[in-house]
Amino acid sequence: MNKFLDPVRYYSYFRARSIRRRLAKVGDSSVFDPLSTILEPELVSIGDRVFIGERAHISAEMTIGDNVMFGPRPIIIGGDHYFGVRGRSVRTLRPLGRENSRPIHIESEAWFGAAVVILAGVTVGMGAVVGAGSVVSKSIPPFVIAVGNPCRPIKRIFSDANLVEHLCSLGSERQTALNLLVRRQHEIEAAGLVVDELPIVDQTGSYTNCENHVYHASDNAMHKSVWRRQWR
Ligand SMILES: CC(C)(COP(=O)(O)OP(=O)(O)OC[C@H]1O[C@@H](n2cnc3c(N)ncnc32)[C@H](O)[C@@H]1OP(=O)(O)O)[C@@H](O)C(=O)NCCC(=O)NCCS
Repeated sequence: MNKFLDPVRYYSYFRARSIRRRLAKVGDSSVFDPLSTILEPELVSIGDRVFIGERAHISAEMTIGDNVMFGPRPIIIGGDHYFGVRGRSVRTLRPLGRENSRPIHIESEAWFGAAVVILAGVTVGMGAVVGAGSVVSKSIPPFVIAVGNPCRPIKRIFSDANLVEHLCSLGSERQTALNLLVRRQHEIEAAGLVVDELPIVDQTGSYTNCENHVYHASDNAMHKSVWRRQWR
């Protein structure tokens, strides 16, 4: 069917272009499903090569670093309604501007499984992996796997030495890498966990594909034509 005769595709095409033009920033090769909802795109800054899966809902002031991946149906909410005001129905309460909102920061290289919920004020550290269905209500340290509701770190990604080596091979200065390592330790402890008790995950030995592949939305056949047009 011609895309202009198909109401869903017609709507998606113009909706995606309109959202994209309003985003505070969007980097190279970053894509989102046109049927997503981004309520105030002016408050959303997206880095390079970011992939946001199907039907995202973003209602937040937020920054997303480079090379971040979201699985399908992430829900990102940066504020709350008022409630518990004596003598007032909850339905009549409305924050003034963004007084009840806090910005969300997603650092580079983070990966989110399907259907995560991310709440106001959190920072998800560089390279963190957040399990499917998790509710992120507190900040997540860099380079950990975190799961559940509330989402909590369960493993570290890379030993300390291998994390530093990994960051340096991606182009970080050694001191910057060391600082991130210290930050990981500090934030794991701040979450009430013992660093050495979190197992280490390192898939280097089992990953055999030598080619670098950057996922593009056109990999997804369902939205292929709409997504491809989105970025012209
Ligand atoms: C988090 C994830 C990456 C697995 O990490 P892992 O290190 O292999 O975790 P394991 O399978 O060893 O599980 C460790 C523990 O966490 C639990 N767990 C794993 N994923 C979980 C999740 N999403 N939510 C809650 N608990 C989870 C396991 O049940 C296990 O619990 P136990 O120690 O009590 O037995 C994976 O479970 C996940 O959520 N993947 C996302 C898949 C997805 O949505 N992909 C989208 C593709 S676009």
